Amino acid sequence: MAPVRHLISIDDLSDTDLYSLVLRGAAFSAGTAGRPAPLAGDVVGIYFRKTSTRTRTAFSSGALRLGAQIIAYGPDDLQLNTGETSEDTGRVMSGMLDVLVARTAGDPAEMRAWAAQDRMAVVNAMSADEHPTQALTDLTTLQGHFGGIEGLRVLYVGEGNNTASALALALTRYPGVSLELRTPPGYGLAPYYRERAADQAGRHGATFRERHDMDDLPADQDAVYTSRWQTTGTSKPDPDWREIFAPFQVSAALWETSPKAVFLHDLPAHRGDEVTAEVLDGPASIAFAQAENKMHSAMAVLEWCRP
Ligand code: CP
Repeated sequence: MAPVRHLISIDDLSDTDLYSLVLRGAAFSAGTAGRPAPLAGDVVGIYFRKTSTRTRTAFSSGALRLGAQIIAYGPDDLQLNTGETSEDTGRVMSGMLDVLVARTAGDPAEMRAWAAQDRMAVVNAMSADEHPTQALTDLTTLQGHFGGIEGLRVLYVGEGNNTASALALALTRYPGVSLELRTPPGYGLAPYYRERAADQAGRHGATFRERHDMDDLPADQDAVYTSRWQTTGTSKPDPDWREIFAPFQVSAALWETSPKAVFLHDLPAHRGDEVTAEVLDGPASIAFAQAENKMHSAMAVLEWCRP
């Protein structure tokens, strides 16, 4: 059997891997992927140190549907809490698990340490810097809705958080895509992701911009995306952060210049904060189909991990 494949960052995927994972997720979503059981006999560990409704359920349900059995660990269950090293943890678990899906909301170096073996695939279900399986879900949703991603115009409004970082790494690999981010001042993408997205866009014939205001928004967008202001596992030290974020709420006014845009949200949502209820629950919103796609995309990821 070929060595397992780890997914800790979108950077871990070749262009071919990225494009085929998105197409495969869309096939699961459309019901055209058949009913394969490539993980029959496998055991998948699900280790979530932070809260999750969608991602944990998506990978658990997806693994079961692909024929695997699962072991779920809560935040206090592993000896990591008593000082066992990440390297030892990965080495031990790799003798008993085939895949480990983990949410830490911490430094991805810990996942890289778990992945320093080739028997157990490690999947990042959200670290502090990046949420790669969310980006795969988002592209799966765009693929399913538009029939393709090349040439789409996407406006992201909100914090440059781990969802935005992964989205920027993934979308800028598609020719003709326009990705514009409007992030509150002081809450933009981390420099690595901004520079990497700009570089990739240049190489793939895409465009990428980030601004920190809501003036002169681009018109005729295909999709408008936002994310919760209080990203899971984080807090904002500035007590006045809400004043900075307030102009970045997504409201129906945005649809005056982009009347055909669909609305995406990684969820969970806080209606009245990052988005109005009118938009989230309105006709442009495909956010709940996007949430369901977390499972379809998770199945594509699990299948890819075990070639
Ligand atoms: N979007 C997302 O990651 O949702 P959960 O935090 O519920 O997994």
